[in-house]
Amino acid sequence: MAQSSAIALPASGSPAQSPQSQDTSPSDVVVSIKRVGHVFRTKGRRVQALLETDLQIHDREFLTIVGPSGCGKSTLMNLIVGLFPPSTGEVLYRGQRQTGVNRSIGYVTQADNLYPWRSLRKNIEFPLELRGVPARERRKRSEYLIHRVGLDGFGDSYPHELSGGMRQRANIIRSLAYEPEVILMDEPFGPLDAQTRLILQNQLLELWQEERKTIIFITHDLGEAVALADRVVVMSARPGRIKTIAPVPIPRPRNLFEIHTDDRFRETYRTLWESLEEEVKKGAVSWQSPK
Ligand SMILES: Nc1ncnc2c1ncn2[C@@H]1O[C@H](COP(=O)(O)OP(=O)(O)O)[C@@H](O)[C@H]1O
Ligand SMILES: [Mg+2]
Repeated sequence: MAQSSAIALPASGSPAQSPQSQDTSPSDVVVSIKRVGHVFRTKGRRVQALLETDLQIHDREFLTIVGPSGCGKSTLMNLIVGLFPPSTGEVLYRGQRQTGVNRSIGYVTQADNLYPWRSLRKNIEFPLELRGVPARERRKRSEYLIHRVGLDGFGDSYPHELSGGMRQRANIIRSLAYEPEVILMDEPFGPLDAQTRLILQNQLLELWQEERKTIIFITHDLGEAVALADRVVVMSARPGRIKTIAPVPIPRPRNLFEIHTDDRFRETYRTLWESLEEEVKKGAVSWQSPK
C-alpha cells in the first residue's frame, strides 16, 4: 500500500502549500501525478521503479525531492517531462494528459549537456534558435542570463575552457532561455564542490524569485533540499512512493549562508531526516542481502 504522511507546518512562499489543501485548489496545480507506477523490463528482468505515486506540484513552487539512490526519482522526472508514458496511472500537465515530450518543461540533468563545438553564448541561444527567435532577441536574452549568473566576458568561450561550476551555470541558464513554465533539475549541483554549490544555489534562488518558474529539483543532499524548497518530498526505497511531504516554514528571501543555524531549518531537517534515514537503511539492507 502507498503510504504518505504530511507534516503540518505553516508554509511560506506560495499558496496552497499544505498537502491537505492540494485537492481544494486545482487551478494552480501545474503537474499532477496520479497513482503512477512504472516498471522497466530489460533482458527478462522486471524492475518496479515506481509504485502508486501521487503528487501535485503548484504554480511557481520550488519543490525538492530526496530519496535513496535507485528509488525512482529520475524515472519520475522522465515521466513528468513525458519521455515515456507511465506503466500505470497518469501524469497531467495543467489538467491535460501528457502525450509525448512536454515543450513547456525545461530539463537540467547532472550530466553536462553543453555542445562542445558551440560557444557559451551559442549554447544558451540554441533553444531559442530552434524556436525561430530573431537573432537580436536571442542575443539580448543570452546576454542577460550570462550576466545574471556572473559569467560576463565568457560568452565567446567554449565549454572546455570553462570550469565545472561555470558549465553547470550555463546548463541552468540554457534551460531558462526559452522561458519554460516548469524546470526539472536532476541533481544539478551533484558533482560540484561545497562552495561552488552554495554560490549556485543562491543564484538559482535569485533567478527563481525573479522569473517565478515552477522548479522540481532532485538532490541527494537533504540540507540543500530544505534550504531551497517550499516543500520537500521524501521518497521511499524502491519501488518509489511519496513517503513524506513537508513545507519549509522559512521566509524568503533566504540567506543560504546562514540558514543552517536557523531553528526552523534544523527542525525541518531533523523531521525529514528521520523519514529519509529509514528508507536509506532499507536500501542498504536489500543491497547487502544475497539475491
Ligand atoms: N531505462 C531503464 N531501464 C531499466 N531499468 C531502469 C531504467 N531507468 C531506471 N531503471 C531502474 O529503475 C530504478 C529507479 O531508477 P532511477 O529512477 O534512476 O532512480 P534514482 O534517480 O532515484 O536513483 C533503478 O532500479 C534503476 O536501475
Ligand atoms: Mg537519479
